[in-house]
Amino acid sequence: MPLKNINPTTTKSWKRLEDHFEQIKDVHMKTLFQQDKERKKKFILTTEEFTLDLSKNRITEETLQYLLELANESELKDAITKYFNGDIINQTENRAVLHTALRNQNSNKILVNGQDVMSEIQETLKKIKSFSKSVITGEFKGYTGKAITDVVNIGIGGSDLGPRMVVESLQYYKNHLNTHFVSNIDGDHVAETIKNLNPETTLFVIVSKTFTTQETLTNAETIKKWFLSQDFGTKESDIQHNFIAVSTNLEKVLDFGIAKENIFTMWNWVGGRYSLWSAVGLSISLAVGFDNFNSLLKGAFAMDEHFRKTSFDKNLPVVLALLSIWYNNFFDTESEVVIPYTQYLEKFAPFLQQLSMESNGKSTDRNGKKVTYQTGNIIWGNTGTNVQHAFMQLVHQGTKIIPVDFIGFEESLHGNQDHHHKLMANFFAQAEALYAGKTIEEVHLDMKFHGDSKKINKLLPFKIFEGNRPSNSVLIKKLSPYNLGSLIALYEHKTFVQGVVWNIYSFDQFGVELGKELAQKLLVK
Ligand code: F6P
Repeated sequence: MPLKNINPTTTKSWKRLEDHFEQIKDVHMKTLFQQDKERKKKFILTTEEFTLDLSKNRITEETLQYLLELANESELKDAITKYFNGDIINQTENRAVLHTALRNQNSNKILVNGQDVMSEIQETLKKIKSFSKSVITGEFKGYTGKAITDVVNIGIGGSDLGPRMVVESLQYYKNHLNTHFVSNIDGDHVAETIKNLNPETTLFVIVSKTFTTQETLTNAETIKKWFLSQDFGTKESDIQHNFIAVSTNLEKVLDFGIAKENIFTMWNWVGGRYSLWSAVGLSISLAVGFDNFNSLLKGAFAMDEHFRKTSFDKNLPVVLALLSIWYNNFFDTESEVVIPYTQYLEKFAPFLQQLSMESNGKSTDRNGKKVTYQTGNIIWGNTGTNVQHAFMQLVHQGTKIIPVDFIGFEESLHGNQDHHHKLMANFFAQAEALYAGKTIEEVHLDMKFHGDSKKINKLLPFKIFEGNRPSNSVLIKKLSPYNLGSLIALYEHKTFVQGVVWNIYSFDQFGVELGKELAQKLLVK
């Protein structure tokens, strides 16, 4: 069954939110905290490993109530059931959307067009497990009989960003294999990546759902040529030892010269940007071992269960999505910034950019009509504390309201308590500074206290912080594969909820086609 088709602006809750916005838009969060001593407690949501602090948002209980009504009026419950059941909710491509089946830990069947997909998923997982093990233990050999030392993932978009982000985020858990990623069609990128590699001990993993993507095929062909160059004394059949592929397009992969047993399948009901849970995540399993890959899947499943089973008012992805809609559609904020307080998550923002912006960057609703309201936000970010010395000036004192998601971890991985205390002090301080700001009186006092009285008249206006700038703080126990899986799934479901409420199709990406077509035409000329 398709998703329902409801224009959010015609709902009662939308009208209520419009009226409510007029009442609340200028209220400072400091007033809200003063008025309600229980506020901090009231606006905390938890799962076993996550604590989400919503208290520093420009909301009251009434706001949340109306936003939850909006979710109900948008038939979110019905949408979630269809999403997990394998209904054809990617209607424009006539496909189910079942990345959640890839991490399903229940023993239930999941049907796509009447066929259970769980057995195929299990088979592929077994293949990922045994292949990863054989490469990691050195049992799998390259064309001269040597064990593999390096893995190169050749892919782009979802066939790159997800695996790359996870491998980098989980580098603490990594084994001896060096992992590299080639994505850009820029020849310098591929040249730099392979320049120091030994073809005898390098495994090339070509990842392309369609196996037609210009960047991936060009990079794969360039690497193949390099591999077959005279310097290495290789022959065509050696490709079978050092190249493997992940794709739905068997024929094209075989044409490339890859052995049938070295092809990992995926399915058209897995969108590129949601595919790291499938064999697209093979480089993850190679880099950190299958057990860690499996923990990632289990963590995502735990978030799936939370999303499916928790009432909306306590549901992390639902509430995050609704808050995002509150700012985007009522405060007219255009962007959201995501700031993880761990260097490991440096690639998290680029990953989220594809996830969110390729999914919800749409201006046609599920009726085929142009939307009359804002949809997808601009997502950006980088790691704290680096960003505090870069773009945070604009977030604190610029003219725009930019809602922030701070992501922090209770424990560090290497210990280093001194560093971790300082890091987390910054994590908490940023949210506090954004919300509370610094008044003219406070600046005055502070300058006096520091003996800067002479400069007060000159500098006072520049040192004022209005505050009232919203943020969510997500505090997670530890950066483990399990928790990373949950974190990614949290944002996947947030993206889904937004798409449902905005009444758009989140799982196609026609917007990327025109540029590709034009580039193709320019090449032919
Ligand atoms: O950019 C468009 C897109 O289709 C993405 O959605 C996808 O992740 C990427 O290209 C790569 O596609 P493929 O895996 O088919 O090479």
